Order: sequence, then structure tokens, then C-alpha cells
Amino acid sequence: MDNQQRQSLPPLPLAASQGGPDDATQTAWKLAAAQAAVAAIPDGAVLGLGSGTTAMLMVRELAARIQQQGLRVTGVPTSEQTRATAAALGIPLADLNDVPAVTMSIDGADEVTFPRLDLIKGLGGALLREKLVASASRYRVIIADATKAVPALASARPIPVEVIPFGWRHTAGRLGALGARVVLRTASDATPGDPNAAPYVTDTGNYILDCSFGPIPQPDMLAGYLKATVGVVEHGLFIGMTDRVYLAGPDGVRIYDRPR
Ligand code: A5P
Repeated sequence: MDNQQRQSLPPLPLAASQGGPDDATQTAWKLAAAQAAVAAIPDGAVLGLGSGTTAMLMVRELAARIQQQGLRVTGVPTSEQTRATAAALGIPLADLNDVPAVTMSIDGADEVTFPRLDLIKGLGGALLREKLVASASRYRVIIADATKAVPALASARPIPVEVIPFGWRHTAGRLGALGARVVLRTASDATPGDPNAAPYVTDTGNYILDCSFGPIPQPDMLAGYLKATVGVVEHGLFIGMTDRVYLAGPDGVRIYDRPR
């Protein structure tokens, strides 16, 4: 862990001219961030287990630390996929309802801004349970590769919004009126562009509308509008909900703590 550095200045964006890392490099960065976070888990923690590819690497590292060092944790999964993976690796698990509080959670993110550590999450589809577990957590950690650092949220990716299936077209219309280009997410096995493709269905049985707003200067205000929209269950803006980010890139793992 000697390549970890605490940071006070925002990270420099990766140069677009470099075209971004190749898949193997990006995975190596995700793994480095996951390893740094897992090394800091306290013994006895009730641990929120995030979802997505970075979180899956974290779950594997956690299982290794449990096996090799006898770390005692109880994991609280944020998706059925995480639950299945963690269970298969022998990690003790509990439902969120069965724990009074979560000591800390570790999850991935789609976009992160600095220094406030605001996030977009949910491109993997688990944003509702991720937000429920994060909200129950005393300390919230994000692990990310350097491609996730952005100057403003929604610069490059849509904001996922989980909606009730009943009347979703009307909910989409209301989100469109807020200024978004709204696309119903389709099942992962759907043919791209197929107008009859089945919708993607979340673990809780809802749909996801991917809402492209372009860069948003005041994400907390938009978060309020999204939350107040009839038909919306939850949105993927995580504002003021992160305590620490482990950001891994070409210079190793950098640690960012949210200013108090
Ligand atoms: C899952 O719904 C998401 O919030 C993920 O945490 C996020 O999409 C990051 O995923 P990757 O680690 O796969 O990039």
C-alpha cells in the first residue's frame, strides 16, 4: 500500500488524447482501489457490499482477507448478484433489515466529482438498494478507477432513474420536461435498437430510465426535482453521501476525504 497518497487537490482528468486506458489497465486500477479499501476494513464490521465490476473485485479481495487473516465481517449486499457472489465465496451475510446499522459500505461509482465526492451511480442497475445501504452506513467508501473522475456530474453519462413500471411513459415525460433526454433501459440480452425489446427490470421489480442532462452545475437541486417527480422511486445522484474515495490510476491509489 506504499503507493497510496492522501490528496487535497482534485485529480487531473485523464487526457482525452490518451484515449483512456485499455480494459486490462482499467481492471488493474479497479483492483488496486478495491485492495486499498479492503485493507482498511476494521475487524467486526457490518459491511455494505456494493454492486458492479469494481465492487465484485472488492468482494473477492474481502473473501481472501477473511480466509487468510481471519477477518470477521457481516456483509450486507446491495444486489442479488452481489449476494450470490458473496455467498458463494463464503462471506457471512445479513439483510439490511436484520442489522441496526452498517459500520461502513464500500461501493463503486460511475462518475465522481472532487472535492465534494458527489456521485452518479446505477449504470449497473442497483442504485436503489445501493442508496438504501449507503444511507444506513456510518462511513461510506467509494472505489473507482481514474476514468470515473469528472469535472461535473452527468458530463459523459446519463443519470439512471428507477421508476415504477405502471405509467412509466408518463413518468418519462415528466423527466423530459426537466430537460433530460430519456431512454428506457432494455434487458441486457436485447438487440440494440429493437423497439420491442424487453425493459431491464431491477432487483426490486422496477424499470430504469437513463436521463441525459449534460453537465449539471447544481446536482443537489436536480436531485430534489428528480425525487419529487411522481413515479420516481430513486435516482442515481448520490450527493453528500461519500466520506472517502480510493481513486486508482496511472500514479497509484489516491485517497480523497470529503471536506467537513
Ligand atoms: C451499480 O448499480 C452501480 O452503481 C455501480 O456501482 C457503478 O455502476 C460502478 O460500476 P463499475 O464498477 O462496474 O464501473
